Amino acid sequence: MLASVYAPKDFKRLRASGDLVARCFDFITPHIKAGISTGEIDRLVAEFLKANGARSSDLGYMGYPKNICTSVNDVIVHGIPSDDVILKDGDIVNVDLTAEYKGFHGDASRMFMIGNVAPRARELVQTCQDALNAAISICAPGVPLSEIGKTIEAVVKPHGFSISRDFVGHGIGKVMHDDPQIYHFYDRRWDKVKMVPGLVFTIEPMINTGSPECKIDPDGWTARTVDGGLSAQWEHTLGITEDGVIIFTEKMV
Ligand code: MF3
Ligand code: CO
Ligand code: CO
Repeated sequence: MLASVYAPKDFKRLRASGDLVARCFDFITPHIKAGISTGEIDRLVAEFLKANGARSSDLGYMGYPKNICTSVNDVIVHGIPSDDVILKDGDIVNVDLTAEYKGFHGDASRMFMIGNVAPRARELVQTCQDALNAAISICAPGVPLSEIGKTIEAVVKPHGFSISRDFVGHGIGKVMHDDPQIYHFYDRRWDKVKMVPGLVFTIEPMINTGSPECKIDPDGWTARTVDGGLSAQWEHTLGITEDGVIIFTEKMV
C-alpha cells in the first residue's frame, strides 16, 4: 500500500529533481501573461528541461502528447497545451509540471492569475494554496493519511468551494505514479494507514466554485467542470522525514 518509500540517499536525488521543477517554474513565470499561448509555455518548459539534462515525465505517458498540463478556468486537470489557447485578462491557469532528472520524478503545479482576476476567482486560487499548505503542515511520521483530506476540507468548506473527487495525489519517486493514493477529502479508509519516514507522495487538491462533477473532452484528457464553474489546483512533491516533512519541489537555497 505504501509503495513509494525511499532511502535517505534517494531523498537527495528527489530534492534535486524537485529543485529543477521549481527553477523551471521560475523560468516560465515571467512569460505567463495575457497574449501567450499554452503551447508556447509548453515549448519554454521543453527548452528548459532539455538544457538542464531532464525530461518531461508527462510526454508519452499513456500517449499524452505534451510536456506539461495547462488547465485554464473551468478545466480541472490535464488541459493539453495548444497554440490555439491564448491566455487573456481575467483567466486563471494551472501549470502542472512533472520532470524526471537522474531517474527521479518531481511533480508540482501552480496557479497563475492573468491581469485583472475577479474577486471570487482570486479567493478560489488563494484558498486552494492555503489548503495545500495546511495539509503539508500536518504531515509527519505516524500521522494517518486521512488527516490530509480532513485538513483540506477544513480550509475549503468555510469558503463554499467544492473539492474534486475524481483525481488524487499519489506516491512518486522512480515512477511518476505509485501507491498510495492521496485523497483530498476525508475518507475513513485511510485512518489506519500512517505516514512513515521515507514515504514520498504528492498532495494536489483541486477545488471548484460550483459542483465538483467533471466531464472529459473528446481529446480524452481535458477534464472540466460540468457546470462551467472555475477550478484551481496547487501541487507539491513531499517526503516524510524522521521528524516531519520536506517539500521537494521548492528551490534549494
Ligand atoms: N502531473 C500530473 C499529476 O499531478 C500527471 C500528468 S498526467 C499526464 O499527477 F498524462 F499529463 F502526463
Ligand atoms: Co502534477
Ligand atoms: Co501529481
